[in-house]
Amino acid sequence: MSVRLVILCILLLPLAATSFRLRCANCTSQSLACNHTFMSCPQGDVCGSDFSYDDLGRGYSLSGTRQCINPSVCNITSSESIQRTHSIRVFSCCYTDYCTPSTDRILQMINNTSPNGLVCPTCSSLLSNWCYTSETVQCKGEENMCFFLTIITKVVGRRAKVQVFRGCTIKSVCDQGNFTYEKGDTVHQETMVCNKAR
Ligand SMILES: *[C@@H]1O[C@H](CO)[C@@H](O)[C@H](O)[C@H]1NC(C)=O
Ligand SMILES: *[C@@H]1O[C@H](CO)[C@@H](O)[C@H](O)[C@H]1NC(C)=O
Ligand SMILES: *[C@@H]1O[C@H](CO)[C@@H](O)[C@H](O)[C@H]1NC(C)=O
Ligand SMILES: *[C@@H]1O[C@H](CO)[C@@H](O)[C@H](O)[C@H]1NC(C)=O
Ligand SMILES: *[C@@H]1O[C@H](CO)[C@@H](O)[C@H](O)[C@H]1NC(C)=O
Repeated sequence: MSVRLVILCILLLPLAATSFRLRCANCTSQSLACNHTFMSCPQGDVCGSDFSYDDLGRGYSLSGTRQCINPSVCNITSSESIQRTHSIRVFSCCYTDYCTPSTDRILQMINNTSPNGLVCPTCSSLLSNWCYTSETVQCKGEENMCFFLTIITKVVGRRAKVQVFRGCTIKSVCDQGNFTYEKGDTVHQETMVCNKAR
């Protein structure tokens, strides 16, 4: 499981004179193949794939979905190594009726999961705002940044829940920066500090 949340920014696309809706694959799968039915998309959505690779230290698993998605997430890729875990998540899109989004990027990343010689401090805590570490993790594939991520989840009327993680990641994950996301009575806040891995 990728630790960072993917924010679906709502793009204000200009509405076409005729309401144009794509038809896209709709499926869930434990492989990169997805047997699918089709769905009609909400206005402005495109056909997307969202695949994850998770290695929890005892072999890896793949899972994913294809469905209509907001085009703002089309190019999101993440890769994180935390303690004994390594996870990769790749979104891809295509833009015509019944199209199949490419799996090239996820295949390329899954093909490159070996340690790359860089290391980062690593730890995680699901209960506090700090985690001490003398442990390190080997960065894998394209990972060249060390991160310290703090996730605060506040539900109105309850105590805030704080989680922290340290490990290796790729630059585009660091570039997402800090953000706050509110939905209903829940506020989700992510703060990420990154340094070059050595
Ligand atoms: C997809 O469908 C084909 C034919 O119906 C079946 O043989 C295959 O096992 C299915 N694959 C998955 C991943 O469900
Ligand atoms: C997509 O597929 C799921 C599972 O097969 C189904 O429950 C859902 O209704 C489908 N969505 C649409 C919009 O067709
Ligand atoms: C995603 O990348 C493609 C190819 O580099 C580019 O054409 C497209 O505008 C990008 N989309 C977004 C939402 O950044
Ligand atoms: C996987 O890596 C090998 C060796 O680096 C390369 O020859 C091959 O083209 C790669 N495959 C993909 C799908 O990227
Ligand atoms: C995110 O917040 C941290 C801590 O407040 C700060 O050090 C860092 O520079 C911020 N990142 C960005 C991209 O503003």
